[in-house]
Amino acid sequence: MTSEPTDPTGSTHPAEPGTAPDAPAVPSTPSPVLSLEDVSWSVGGAVIVDHVTMDVREGEFVALIGPNGAGKTSLFNLVSGLTKPTGGTIRLSGTDITRHAPHRRARLGMGRTFQTSSVFADLTVGANVGLAVQARDGGSHRFWRRAAPEGGPETRDVLDLVRLSHRVEAPAGELSHGDKRKLELALLLARGPRLILLDEPMAGVSAGEVGELTAVIRDVHREGGRSVLMVEHHMEVLLDMADRLAVLHHGALLAHTDPDSAMSDPRVQAAYLGDAA
Ligand SMILES: Nc1ncnc2c1ncn2[C@@H]1O[C@H](COP(=O)(O)OP(=O)(O)O)[C@@H](O)[C@H]1O
Ligand SMILES: [Mg+2]
Repeated sequence: MTSEPTDPTGSTHPAEPGTAPDAPAVPSTPSPVLSLEDVSWSVGGAVIVDHVTMDVREGEFVALIGPNGAGKTSLFNLVSGLTKPTGGTIRLSGTDITRHAPHRRARLGMGRTFQTSSVFADLTVGANVGLAVQARDGGSHRFWRRAAPEGGPETRDVLDLVRLSHRVEAPAGELSHGDKRKLELALLLARGPRLILLDEPMAGVSAGEVGELTAVIRDVHREGGRSVLMVEHHMEVLLDMADRLAVLHHGALLAHTDPDSAMSDPRVQAAYLGDAA
């Protein structure tokens, strides 16, 4: 680097016209956190997921819908890494993760709700979340502290967000279905994911708890600019929350657009009518 004579007055030289970099162009659409390009999955000659191209943008809420058997769970399994596609590419924030195992995807910021079996039923809600926080901070390489029944400050923040603070000292096994879902979300959030995958979070939850759980999921999405990809049968829940829908039918994507446009698409209507018949 050539040494520039310093200005004794301390004033800085104005940049030459034309040399200052322009302000970065603001992209018209946020960049994708998750992108699927031509993703397919076949089993025993049957095409279950058929050349699906879609994405989830930064901070976006995308709902994956489609009649029973459309391939929603199969697609989710490909995204989370439980199964590997037979064709196509999956990227997480630009990184090709098509062949990554689930735990590597998790480390890169992808979170799928834990199975209820990963909840320690005898431990308190606070201790369960405390353990998840420790695991994220590298708990496998040091002795785990005994997680306090009421958890630490981060645990309390996460439990506030999912509206479970009042149950912090309750044994996890004593929670209602709706509260168990909230705890599963809390365990997920404790790991700090950028993209959250939810496969039918309302399943098994009583009608009276759906509204509250919906509000929690909405808060989880909005807080921290997290992206969400969610499968759900409760259409009234989705149409209210989703920025875009991705509509699957027989494994193929019929529509990937805003809810109004998707639901007024004749092919989408035909797919639902066909299955209801
Ligand atoms: N491991 C598998 N082997 C064979 N067929 C499968 C497998 N998993 C799913 N399928 C089939 O793929 C189709 C889509 O299933 P699924 O992804 O569970 O749909 P959805 O979640 O939309 O209801 C169904 O016909 C199902 O029987
Ligand atoms: Mg399913």
